[in-house]
Amino acid sequence: ALADETNRIVSEFDFTDDDLNRHVNEFLSQMNEGLQKDGTSLAQIPTYVTGVPNGTEKGLYLAVDLGGTNFRVCSIMLNGDTTFNLTFNKVAIPKELMVAKTASELFSFLAKQIELFLREHHADRFEESHVRRRNTVSNEEGFRDESIFRLGFTFSFPVQQLAINKGLLIRWTKGFDIHDAIGKDVCALLQTEIDKLQLPVKVAALVNDTVGTLMARSYTSTGKSRSILGAIFGTGTNGAYMEKTSNIKKPIPGEYDDSTGEMVVNTEWGSFDNQLNVMPSTSWDKALDAQSVNPGYQMFEKRVSGMFLGEIVRLAVADMISNEKSSLFKDINSSSNDWASTTTISPQSGFLKPWGLDSAIMSVAVSDNTPELSTLRQELENLLHVYTPSLEDAQAFKSVAYAVGRRAARLSAVAIGAIAIQSGKLDDPNEEVIDIGVDGSLVEHYPYFRDMIHEALQAIDAVGPKGAEKIRIGIAKDGSGVGAALIALIAASKETPNN
Ligand code: BG6
Ligand code: GLC
Repeated sequence: ALADETNRIVSEFDFTDDDLNRHVNEFLSQMNEGLQKDGTSLAQIPTYVTGVPNGTEKGLYLAVDLGGTNFRVCSIMLNGDTTFNLTFNKVAIPKELMVAKTASELFSFLAKQIELFLREHHADRFEESHVRRRNTVSNEEGFRDESIFRLGFTFSFPVQQLAINKGLLIRWTKGFDIHDAIGKDVCALLQTEIDKLQLPVKVAALVNDTVGTLMARSYTSTGKSRSILGAIFGTGTNGAYMEKTSNIKKPIPGEYDDSTGEMVVNTEWGSFDNQLNVMPSTSWDKALDAQSVNPGYQMFEKRVSGMFLGEIVRLAVADMISNEKSSLFKDINSSSNDWASTTTISPQSGFLKPWGLDSAIMSVAVSDNTPELSTLRQELENLLHVYTPSLEDAQAFKSVAYAVGRRAARLSAVAIGAIAIQSGKLDDPNEEVIDIGVDGSLVEHYPYFRDMIHEALQAIDAVGPKGAEKIRIGIAKDGSGVGAALIALIAASKETPNN
């Protein structure tokens, strides 16, 4: 009976080949809409990045990276031969700062981390230019100083970009919620806090993590196949791709160099189909959205990325647990009918608390192929406080986790497939490989995520098995820091004393 009940839940996460194709068409149409005007669900943000690096770029740059979970400060030595050396410090972003009252609470923390990093890893140059900076009368003069570090700011949230180093926050995503930052220039917010500490640092470029990933992948990939897409499947999900500037019909507010005829566009695909024209919506998807900090937004992300998958599984499993007739996580030898006295779940179990189930356990579930599912059962016991889960319990959990993960991977294939189609390279006989750079905890740690994407790509009519074979999805580990450094380099080379 538990198996039947599980199958019923699992079938709600079905995502057929027909669904795939319908979604791809809708994705292409929402992409196009976003290129025409502002305020659409797929924001299609022009980034002012008009070229990709070729691997010969050189120099020492700083990058900071505010993702969804961690904050990183890095220095990157670009060696000019497609290689680089990266030094970084990583801290978990304190939860209370994600929902701070004022932006300055968050940004002063970031500036402080930059200071700690410079003192630890670049003490000589730091001391020298720090002193000089304090004695410099005007900022303008200071910025002409070669010893000032140029910094690329990876800020992984939707920003209306006005220039390479200026962008107004549209809204927060991934659990962040600091009201007074909305509409502000996030580079200025960071520079202000850096200046309060008198650090020898200039924020030279603002970069979404997907854009950084695309740049990094291009810097390191040798051969003629240029990457067409940088994508993140981590806490959140998003992608940035190269678009012909002639296809961007809405006004691009700032100045840019159009010599390449192309610009990187940050799709913000996490908000694909917020209006739910096509996207599946189970009762658990709806419950998750309702309890999130941003109901109605990031609807695609809420079905795909690491921050949300565990919660979907939890909500579905919690429904099974609360069903009195279900044997899931119950002591079947007990003669009592009372839930509280038969359940094997401790009251402190993550199953009973919103956001209490970390998506990481889904990876454990899917990768446990032992006949007794002993690893998974141990984890259920340790992490989720289930008292001696049975094999049937673990099987039910594994099936639900697998179904939620598979739907996420197939939805991911929708985004990747649509952008491959948009690139026009699938049918181009001169393009042997269509390269895609990816990063993020989900694609890195969830077993077979890329395989499931590939399998789904084959089932997209306009891609097909031949097209899918051309698409190469490669990890660009820690890419966004390197990418931000590259963009800071390009921006610094075009700097005038007044910007
Ligand atoms: C990191 C990148 O490797 O991956 C970040 O440096 C990015 O820029 C992050 O935001 C995404 O993964 P996760 O799992 O940390 O959200
Ligand atoms: C969220 C953000 C987006 C970012 C993505 C991955 O979707 O809105 O800007 O790229 O997460 O980190």
